[in-house]
Amino acid sequence: MKLAVPKQTDQDETRVALTAQAVKKLVGMGVQVVVESDAGLAAHIDDEAYTKAGASVVHRDGEATKQVWAEADVVAVINPPSESQAAAMKSGSMLVGMLAPLANEALIRKLSENKVTAVSLEFIPRISRAQAMDVLSSQANIGGYKAVLLAADKCPKMFPMMITAAGTIAPAKVFVIGVGVAGLQAIATAKRLGAIVEAYDVRAVTKEQVLSLGARFVELPTAAQDDAATGGYAKEQTDEERQKQAELMAKHVTGADVVITTAAIFGKAPPLLVPADVVKDMREGAILVDMAADKAVGRGNCELTRPGEVTVTDNDVTIIGTLNLPGLVPGDASSVYANNVLNFLKEVMEDGQIKIDLTDEIQKGAVITHDGLLVNEMVKEKLES
Ligand code: NAI
Repeated sequence: MKLAVPKQTDQDETRVALTAQAVKKLVGMGVQVVVESDAGLAAHIDDEAYTKAGASVVHRDGEATKQVWAEADVVAVINPPSESQAAAMKSGSMLVGMLAPLANEALIRKLSENKVTAVSLEFIPRISRAQAMDVLSSQANIGGYKAVLLAADKCPKMFPMMITAAGTIAPAKVFVIGVGVAGLQAIATAKRLGAIVEAYDVRAVTKEQVLSLGARFVELPTAAQDDAATGGYAKEQTDEERQKQAELMAKHVTGADVVITTAAIFGKAPPLLVPADVVKDMREGAILVDMAADKAVGRGNCELTRPGEVTVTDNDVTIIGTLNLPGLVPGDASSVYANNVLNFLKEVMEDGQIKIDLTDEIQKGAVITHDGLLVNEMVKEKLES
C-alpha cells in the first residue's frame, strides 16, 4: 500500500498530517510512505527525519506533485485539497483528513465521481472506541490552551493575584462560554495561570466538569440540555432561547477581563452569544478570543469578530478572531493529529489493504464518499437539499 503525505499549501497551515514518528510506525506495518519535500517544515520536521523514518521524499514540482496524488492508495491531509488534486487521485484510493464536506460540495462531488473513498475525520462519532481517532478533540484541546495564552499575552492585567511591596495585584477574571473540549482546556489553562474563572454551557453535564477544575459554573435560568438526548453535542436553540441566554450572560461578559468563546453546534453556524451592544459595555482593555470564528459565516460567537483578524473596538476591547489556533502549536498539533490518522488507518487496514465496512459505526460516520456514492447521511441530506 502506498500512502502519500502532501505539503499543505493553504495559507496559514503549519501542521502536517503525519509526523516522522507516525511514518515510522506505518513503514513498520509494511506501508510504503511518500512525503512531499518540506511537508513537515512548518511543524519543525525536516525531510531528513522522514527519510530516516523510512519514507521516500519527493521534491515538489508540478509533475512530481501530480504523481504523488495520482499514485497513492491513501493520501493523508489536514485540510480539504484543491479540486485538481482530488481529480488526480486514482479510482479506489482513499483520502483522509478534515474535509469539511458540508462546505465543499464541488470537492466532494469530484471525489465521489472519481470513486475515491473520502474520509472526514471530524465526522468520527463520539463513542469511546473512537476517542483515539477524534481530531476535533485532539485539535480543540490545543486550541483552548493557545486561546488563553493569546489572551494573557494581550491582557493589560496579570492573570495571578500578587501581593508585592508595591501593592496588591488582583487576579484577572476569565469567562469561558462553551465547555466542550476547547472550553475545558481553556478553563484549566486559565486556572493554572492563576485567574478567577467562570464558565457556562447549555449542556447540564458540564457543571460538574467546570467545578472539578476549580472554576465557577454560571447558573442561568434557561433550559439545560441533556447529553443523552444529543449524543454529546449541543442542539441548536431557538432564536428566542439564544437571545435570552445572551441577555442573561451579559453581566458575566462585561465583568470579565478575558472572555473565551467556544460555543459550537456541529454542522451549523456558531450561535451568536455576544452581541455588539454587550461588547460596548465590556471593560476597557478586555480581551475576547472567539474560538468559534467562522470565515464562511463572517463572525463567531461574537457579533463583532472578524474571522482571521485581531481587531480593537472603539471602547478598547481586543477581539481575537484568529483561525487555526492549533496551527500555532504545530509540533504537538501535528503529533496528535498524526496519531488520530494512524489509529483510523489501523481500524480500516486488513492484510496491508484498506477494507471499508460501512456497517461499522466509526466508518459509517466518517466515510463521506465510497465507490462512487455519497454515503454519509448528514452530508447527503445537506448536498441534496
Ligand atoms: P463543540 O465544539 O461541538 O461545542 C463546544 C461547546 O459549546 C459544547 O460543549 C457545546 O455544548 C457548547 N455550546 C453550544 N451552544 C452553546 C450555547 N448556546 N451556549 C453555551 N455553550 C454552548 O463540542 P466539543 O468540544 O467537540 O465536545 C462536546 C462534548 O462531546 C464533550 O464535552 C464530550 O463530552 C463529548 N465528546 C466525546 C467524545 C468521545 O466520546 N469520543 C470525543 C469528543 C467529545
